[in-house]
Amino acid sequence: MSFSILEKQELVPTIHLMTVRAPAVAKKAQPGQFIMLRIDERGERVPLTIADFDREKGTITMIFQVLGKTTMHLSMLKAGDDLLDFIGPLGNPAHIENAGTVILIGGGVGVAPVFPQARALKSAGNKIISIIGARNAGLLLWEDRMREVSDELHITTDDGTKGHHGFVTDIVKKILEQGTKVDRVIAIGPPVMMRAVAGITRPFNVRTIVSLNSIMVDGTGMCGACRVLVGNETKFACVDGPEFDAHLVDFTLLMSRLAIYQPEEKEALEKYTCDRKGCSC
Ligand code: FAD
Ligand code: FES
Ligand code: MG
Repeated sequence: MSFSILEKQELVPTIHLMTVRAPAVAKKAQPGQFIMLRIDERGERVPLTIADFDREKGTITMIFQVLGKTTMHLSMLKAGDDLLDFIGPLGNPAHIENAGTVILIGGGVGVAPVFPQARALKSAGNKIISIIGARNAGLLLWEDRMREVSDELHITTDDGTKGHHGFVTDIVKKILEQGTKVDRVIAIGPPVMMRAVAGITRPFNVRTIVSLNSIMVDGTGMCGACRVLVGNETKFACVDGPEFDAHLVDFTLLMSRLAIYQPEEKEALEKYTCDRKGCSC
């Protein structure tokens, strides 16, 4: 069985949207969950968050950033191509309830996984304050979709080309310092951003949830690759998460484990790029 790519487009430089026909996954998909895919029999498995799903059409949409060999290969595929494996939905769904006022923060490609949660939390009756950030205006994702599901939308760019000149954390801090009653914060993005958000919300005692992107191999709790430390307990992000209480996560361990295969990842990308060019190095 293979999984057809129905749509593939580059949304902003290096960030791509891909919609795949996978009716069995779409039937059960919920916000907060992810899939694991393999492009072909020589490919590695990689996890990607379900950014959107359509149960009637039987489709799953992912948004991914080109970082290394597999995401580069994925970015070269087009509508009509097939993926070999497409497993999911994996991980626990996000907890959707009427909590009151929820701040949702998406950094970079993290806006994509934040979107289905914002939509579901809005439908559940919450007041949604969204904060989306990127390095520059040209890299901002899904501003229009986020605006549709938000009561308030804040934009930040590192270089000031759109919205607040600075980081998403500046806005969270401002909102909390103003005394706004916030019942929950959900932050998805680079670990360094999620750690900074946790540092800001901790003194205000606001429940803060992050989605951990640790290295995953099987995605079903068997290999241990995705182990993280949460409240001094070892957890497997794929089956115990991917969402955890940000105030309990050991982000230093997460970041060091994310970097352990960097030499091999660099070599794999160089070899892939070389093979594509047909050079003999
Ligand atoms: P590589 O050069 O192999 O790796 C680049 C970096 O990505 C590594 O240094 C490492 O930190 C990380 N990485 C590498 N392999 C894996 C792996 N098997 N599992 C997790 N991280 C890895 N990225 C997106 O762009 N969009 C998403 O929606 C998204 N959702 C994710 C959901 C979950 C639950 C997890 C765990 C990760 C998610 N990621 C997402 C990260 C994505 O899986 C990696 O960027 C991708 O695997 C990199 O593969 P590569 O071969 O292109 O890069
Ligand atoms: Fe293997 Fe989580 S990816 S245990
Ligand atoms: Mg890789």
